[in-house]
Amino acid sequence: MERIRPFWDQKLVFLSQVLTNFGTVGAIAPSSPLLAKAIVRPLRNRPERPISVLEVGAGTGVFTSRILKFLGPGDQLDVYESNPRFCRYLSRFLQDQDPQLRGVRCNLHNADVRQLKQARPFDFIVCGLPFNSFDVQTVDEILEILMRHLAATGVFAYFEYSLSPAVRSSFLKAADRDRLRKVNYRIGVFVRKHQFDCRQVWWNLPPARARYCRKASAGGELPGTSRDQAAVAEPFAPPVKH
Ligand SMILES: C[S@@+](CC[C@H](N)C(=O)[O-])C[C@H]1O[C@@H](n2cnc3c(N)ncnc32)[C@H](O)[C@@H]1O
Repeated sequence: MERIRPFWDQKLVFLSQVLTNFGTVGAIAPSSPLLAKAIVRPLRNRPERPISVLEVGAGTGVFTSRILKFLGPGDQLDVYESNPRFCRYLSRFLQDQDPQLRGVRCNLHNADVRQLKQARPFDFIVCGLPFNSFDVQTVDEILEILMRHLAATGVFAYFEYSLSPAVRSSFLKAADRDRLRKVNYRIGVFVRKHQFDCRQVWWNLPPARARYCRKASAGGELPGTSRDQAAVAEPFAPPVKH
């Protein structure tokens, strides 16, 4: 029973926020452990030195819990979550995990990521935001802020649901279809410029694609070229495909 309660707690808290705040939650269920594993994959190749990690849109902490497995003494994790209910849940979850005991500095911010203030760049940024629910200006603003706060050799990981445009559009009104078309175009431009790898995760509701991005100046070409491999090998290597 003790093991089952947190599982259902998480689902119920998530569902309550889906029903009351669908515009900002933008999902019907928390991400699966397999999507969490895929998103956090770049941390397998983390540098030995202390690193700083940013998580945006943590929800009930599926990615947070996976991130913490890779952090240790001297590392820092900043979590931005705008929803107060999720923040209360995360705060309890972090108290239980107590990462400070392992020397990880952990800061939970109940704030919109657009209020992000940190002078030091992040080595790894994980983003769970529902870009497809936002307007174009919000998407542009958030991507700009996140890339500005990413270290020169850092990795930015986020996911998109793998729904065909036809399926997505069938749920939307005409004005929303136009908004989504513009958002998809902007994200397409971003992906072509910054993505160096991606992974399809079928075991998720709905299936999703994890995308791994970096600053254009960190390589500029897509992986596979020798220049690309050299540019990202140190100090924070991207995930290697097996
Ligand atoms: C699709 S849910 C993802 C939750 C979790 N990462 C997961 O994968 O299960 C998106 C989350 O982003 C949060 N969010 C939406 N807009 C935000 C913003 N501008 N700043 C910070 N968090 C935001 C929502 O409250 C929600 O928790």
